[in-house]
Parts: sequence; structure tokens; C-alpha cells
Amino acid sequence: MAFRLHAFWDALASAQRPGAGRPIGVPVILRPETEADIPAIDQINQDAFLHHPYSHQTEHLIVRALRASGALTLSLVAEWEGQVVGHIAFSPALIDGQDLGWYTLGPVAVLPSHQRKGIGSSLVKAGLQGLGALGAKGCLLVGDPSYYLRFGFRQGDSLRVHEVPPEYFMCMAFSEGAPSGLVTHHPAFFTTA
Ligand SMILES: CC(C)(COP(=O)(O)OP(=O)(O)OC[C@H]1O[C@@H](n2cnc3c(N)ncnc32)[C@H](O)[C@@H]1OP(=O)(O)O)[C@@H](O)C(=O)NCCC(=O)NCCS
Repeated sequence: MAFRLHAFWDALASAQRPGAGRPIGVPVILRPETEADIPAIDQINQDAFLHHPYSHQTEHLIVRALRASGALTLSLVAEWEGQVVGHIAFSPALIDGQDLGWYTLGPVAVLPSHQRKGIGSSLVKAGLQGLGALGAKGCLLVGDPSYYLRFGFRQGDSLRVHEVPPEYFMCMAFSEGAPSGLVTHHPAFFTTA
């Protein structure tokens, strides 16, 4: 595990080199969350999803539930001028009930005042690199294809998930290609209070 964490830190440092994953000139620092970041992470998710058409405004609760159940495999924050303004979470997903090394991306959120500066993209790219360093086989998500296609996510094909239109279910295999089966996200995603 120590080796894997070391590899993750290397990946994160590499993601923050200018030209290696973040737009040059954007003064954003990406790093794993600490306990002190938790109130800011709650606020970012609440503010970012406030007017989202498909949100139940439970994203901060989902992140808390993932953390409480030890399922927050990777939780990165973005700092801009000393303020935590963005957050991304990754958690284990099951395929046909099995842990095949695939992870769910989400939620990802940037404070409305700091959107469209490249922060969300930097979080996604750094998170994917971090997952790779941890030995993940792939990543999947439910989200708008017009945002996620740019990172290399493609429609699920062999993977499927209940109750989500197929065009919004996207995945990315890191090496061997995607397995086939029914995906189950962590139960924390169904948290309502
Ligand atoms: C999605 C989000 C994290 C992106 O963060 P960001 O820092 O604004 O993103 P970036 O600056 O890296 O990228 C901005 C680009 O993403 C696009 N974009 C942002 N949100 C999008 C969305 N929901 N669907 C499609 N495109 C989106 C912008 O139009 C912009 O496109 P352009 O580069 O072609 O102009 C942020 O907009 C956010 O917090 N949204 C509310 C929460 C949310 O929708 N989370 C994702 C759930 S699937």
C-alpha cells in the first residue's frame, strides 16, 4: 500500500507539471483531501449542484457517506489562491457483484465562481492518473457526454447500469478493455439524508 500511495503522489506531482494535465498559467494546486477540507468540500458540492437539473442536492451527503464507509478511494481537492474551490471523488464499483478494479468517478464539483478556468478538467485528469497509479483497471461514471468525451470516456457498451440512459453512462478502460456486466455503484450513492 505504501508503494501504491507513493506512486499516486508521483502521478499527482506529474499532473501538476505545466503542460502535463493542467492548462499552463492556471495557479491551481491539486492534492488529496485532509480532514480540514471537509467543510469546504461540503460547501462546494452544495453550491455547484444547487441548480443542476438532475441533482437531488445530496452530493455532499454522498461524499460524506463514501468517506464514512471507507469507500473514498481517492478524494482530491483543488486549491486556488489558498481557497479550496474544487473537489472530485472516486469510489469502488462492482461489476456483476465483483470487484474487478473499476472505480466510479463522481461527484466532481467546482464552485460556480471558479468554473470554466480548467479546474474541473485538472481534477478529472489528476484523478485518472491517481487511479492508474493505484492499479485500477478502469473508471466509469454517469454524466454528460459532452463534458467527459474530452477525457477519453466512451459510452458503456459492454457495461451497463440500471435506470440511466445509455448515453449518460460512460467508461474508460486503462489497459485490458472493459469487462461486460451490470455495474453497481457504492450504496453511499443512494444516501438521501
Ligand atoms: C462540471 C464541472 C465540475 C466542470 O468544472 P469546470 O472547472 O467549470 O470545468 P473546466 O473549466 O475544466 O471545463 C469547462 C468546460 O466544461 C464544460 N462543461 C462544464 N459543465 C458541463 C456540463 N455539465 N456538461 C457539459 N459541459 C460542461 C464547459 O462548457 C466548458 O466547455 P468549453 O471548454 O468547451 O468551453 C463544473 O461545471 C461543476 O461543478 N458543475 C456543477 C456540478 C456538475 O455538473 N458536476 C458534474 C456532474 S456529471
